[in-house]
Amino acid sequence: MTKRYLIANWKLNLPPEGIESYLRAIAGAVVDSSVTVVVAPPYPYLRDLHSVVTGAQNCSSEQSGAFTGEVSPAMLRDLGARYVIIGHSERRNIFGESEGLVARKLGLALETGLTPVFCIGEDLRTRDAGHAASFLADQVRAAAVAQLAGEREVIIAYEPVWAIGTGRNASGDVCAETSRAIREALVRFWPSHHASAPILYGGSVTPDNVDDLVSCGEIDGFLVGGASLDSGKMLRIAARLGQPGRTDGPV
Ligand code: PGA
Repeated sequence: MTKRYLIANWKLNLPPEGIESYLRAIAGAVVDSSVTVVVAPPYPYLRDLHSVVTGAQNCSSEQSGAFTGEVSPAMLRDLGARYVIIGHSERRNIFGESEGLVARKLGLALETGLTPVFCIGEDLRTRDAGHAASFLADQVRAAAVAQLAGEREVIIAYEPVWAIGTGRNASGDVCAETSRAIREALVRFWPSHHASAPILYGGSVTPDNVDDLVSCGEIDGFLVGGASLDSGKMLRIAARLGQPGRTDGPV
């Protein structure tokens, strides 16, 4: 059975319905066993979310030392996190994270026993110029300097910058084509056991557009921002993800 992931990235937000009610809904829901639902809250809430599978939104590239404001992968693991989002475009673009820094975080997260959700994605200029596939291949190649030798899984999240928080999602066709290009880059640049890494899509995913994205057949799940703050929307997306064969409209 193909493993699928639905990852909620709360970013610097909390669910308007309240954390308790959100968790009750997610933890109490019956979701297809092929789908792993992960919630990534801001760091201070990680321990409060023990009733669900958790991930962190970022981590330090260092495990300890004089690095004011940083949180290490080992500390996140101690807080119960099993996954960590690495290289999100908001980290790269707003906080200036370089390919080198992202690769160091990736290696350290793996070494610590966290499953990285490694984000890549092109901006609109790059896509319009027809260079999306080569840009993404470069991001995949740059991360290969990290120690990727262990057997632990890396999850790839294809997150086109032009689709994040814009309400404009990539179509199923674009996702399928891009996912194939990413797969080729993984085969070329990463150790062979990562060639079949799950590839998620992220960028304005909602219950209303998830049908087209699932139907393309090339996507192993979603990294969701805005819509993930609503437990009802999360569960509708999870339900659709658990029925990849269905093409008769949104649930
Ligand atoms: P969005 O964010 O769903 O609000 O577009 C996705 C993400 O940044 O992971």
